[in-house]
Formats: sequence, structure tokens, C-alpha cells
Amino acid sequence: MDEMTKDSDNMLVDGYRRKIDYLRISITDRCNLRCVYCMPAEGIDLIKSANILRYEEIIRLVRIAARRGVSKVRVTGGEPLVRKGIIDFLSELNSIEGVNDLSLTTNGVLLAKMAGELAASGLKRVNVSLDSLKPDRFEKMTRGDNLGDVLNGLKAAEGAGLSPVKINMVVIKDFNEDEIIDFARMSIDNPYHVRFIEYMPFDTEAGWQKDKCISAAEIKNICSEVAPLVPVSDTKGGAGPARRFKYAHAKGEIGLISPVSDHFCGSCNRLRLTADGKLRTCLFSDKEIDVRTSLRDGSEDSVIEKILFQAAIEKPERHYINENVFKRCSRTMSLIGG
Ligand code: GTP
Ligand code: 5AD
Ligand code: SF4
Repeated sequence: MDEMTKDSDNMLVDGYRRKIDYLRISITDRCNLRCVYCMPAEGIDLIKSANILRYEEIIRLVRIAARRGVSKVRVTGGEPLVRKGIIDFLSELNSIEGVNDLSLTTNGVLLAKMAGELAASGLKRVNVSLDSLKPDRFEKMTRGDNLGDVLNGLKAAEGAGLSPVKINMVVIKDFNEDEIIDFARMSIDNPYHVRFIEYMPFDTEAGWQKDKCISAAEIKNICSEVAPLVPVSDTKGGAGPARRFKYAHAKGEIGLISPVSDHFCGSCNRLRLTADGKLRTCLFSDKEIDVRTSLRDGSEDSVIEKILFQAAIEKPERHYINENVFKRCSRTMSLIGG
């Protein structure tokens, strides 16, 4: 049997027996917005283009990872839709044997223009970041005036059959907590999965403080003011970190993502690939394993495979963002891809 043939004994598993079947790929560090919790107004020093993985290099890595059990692939950024050639790249990713859940996280600015071709590429679904439905607040948060584009993008994604459309709202105290109910209500008449995310500590201008983070339990209580929430247990739409609920008769649902108050590390199934070709073992760990060099120096697939196994084995058991020992990551969210 060929060394690379799929065999169940040789799947990616980490040191805590967690199966690694999800790869999050950041394809660019560029972004057409400048969210305060992610980037300074003037942007960050961009990665030199020679250091950004080429699409062919990423495709090769994913092919190898798919033989070792990766079946879910998410493309992120920066903002992934600003990178040229993304449609053909997604088609190629979609054609890789074993990849059966291909998704994208976007800020939605270009979604109205691109939804049709994204769906045609084989992309199944999108997660759209949206933190405010008030134009002035949206602008303050993102330093862009694209709220209308994002709302049109949500409709266009739904119309193109990208499903489910998930909305990610990062809840920040004294900033947008008063909009929790408006977001929750969006899940009644629209088939959206509206997800509330606890504000996580990254070293940014916005200056994270623990008291700016509203817990998922508090958010759930606020959502329950609209109507009772019923748990959703099916795995349709991808089992992710969200705890899922819905209002009776609603078209969509609500998700609570609680990395701060109640981490979900025990079921963590993911590795991350940065745009410059480093495998990250955890969102909050600065441990990075370089794969770009081996993708470029003529190494055999077996070498790349070993690097993937090494990254899996180096995954930490959990993060410590809630504890005093925690040190903020040196990369911003835009360089990790969420
Ligand atoms: P699906 O539920 O499968 O659609 O994907 P997802 O929720 O993993 O993707 P998305 O990019 O929409 O992430 C939603 C939020 O969850 C973001 O704020 C992420 O940073 C956060 N998140 C995703 N993965 C992890 C993780 O491994 N650890 C932590 N702490 N947060 C994560
Ligand atoms: N805390 C929580 N979520 C964050 N995101 C970006 N920065 C943070 C943070 N500090 C979210 C984005 C996007 C997802 C990938 O990560 O809003 O939806
Ligand atoms: Fe996994 Fe790290 Fe996220 Fe926890 S914080 S769920 S270990 S990536």
C-alpha cells in the first residue's frame, strides 16, 4: 500500500486524543476594513507578497491534510474576498477528495458582488462578521461606511443558496450590547444563524479589558427577553463552537460562542494556517510551525505530512485567557484569521 493511502490508524490526532479534522486557512492579511478590535487605523505592516503562500501551495497542503482526516476547511483573512483569484482557488479546494465542508469567514463588504460566483465555485456557506446595525456605530467600529453593502451581502448570500448564512457579532460592553436584541430578532424572519461571540483578548488599540466582555450566559438572558429559547441539537450547518438555540417558529437560530467564560477547548478539532505559511496550534498560542519552507524546497509530501502531525501533537490542551498567566498573542486577529 502506498505510504500516503488513507488508513484509519494514521489520522491527525493531537496529544489529548482530539481528532483534528478542521483546517482554518488565512489567505491574506489584507483587509478592506479596519475594525478597532483588530487593526490600527493606519493598518499593520503587511506580509511581503513573496512570503504569502501561493494558492497552489495551499492546495497541496490541503490535499495532504485531507488524506489524514481533515474534512472541514474554512477560508479566512484579513478579508479573504480581497485576494485575486479566490473563486478558482475555492473551486480547487472544493474538488479535493475528502473536503466536504468548505466555508468562508468574511466581513461581507464584497459579498453582494461575489455571492453568485462564490456559490458556483462550490463554496457551501459563509460566516459574516457584523457588530452593529447602526450606520454611525458600524463606521466607528470598522472605520468604513459599508453597512449597506454588508446587509445586501447577507441577502445576496441567502439568494445564491449559500446556507446557512451565519452572522458573527462580537459583543462589547458599552459599545453594542444594546443591539443584542435587534440581532437576535434577525433570526426570526431570516434563516440566519445569529452568533454572539464573547470579546476575546488580543493586543489591539481597542484595549481589551475583562469588564468589556459580556458572558454568553448574560447574552442568553437578554435574548430570552424576546421569547423563550429552545436548544437546537442537530448538526446541520456544521458542528462548531457555538451552543445553538432558536425561538419557536423562527426561520433562523441563535448561537452563543463563549471562549472566555466557558472555553470549548475540550472539543477543539482545528489547526490554523497563516497567510505566510505557519501552522498555529491554537488561536491563543504563539507557537507556530513553519510549513512554507518545506512547501518551497522540493520536499516530498511525506515531509509536509510530518509537519502537520507535529503541529497536531503540539496543540495545547486549552487556552488560559481567563487566568493571570495569560500573555496576549503577538499576532493580531487579522494575521491569524479568527
Ligand atoms: P462554524 O461554526 O463551523 O461555522 O465555524 P466557526 O464558528 O469556527 O467559524 P468563525 O470563523 O465564524 O468563528 C466564530 C468565532 O469563534 C470567532 O470569533 C472565532 O475567533 C471563534 N473561534 C473559532 N475557532 C475558535 C477556537 O478554536 N478557539 C477559540 N477560542 N475561538 C474560536
Ligand atoms: N473577540 C472575539 N471575536 C473576534 N473576532 C475578531 N476579533 C475578535 C475578538 N477580539 C471575530 C470577528 C470574526 C471572527 C473570525 O472573529 O468578528 O467574525
Ligand atoms: Fe482550540 Fe485553542 Fe481555540 Fe481552545 S483556544 S478551542 S485549544 S484553538
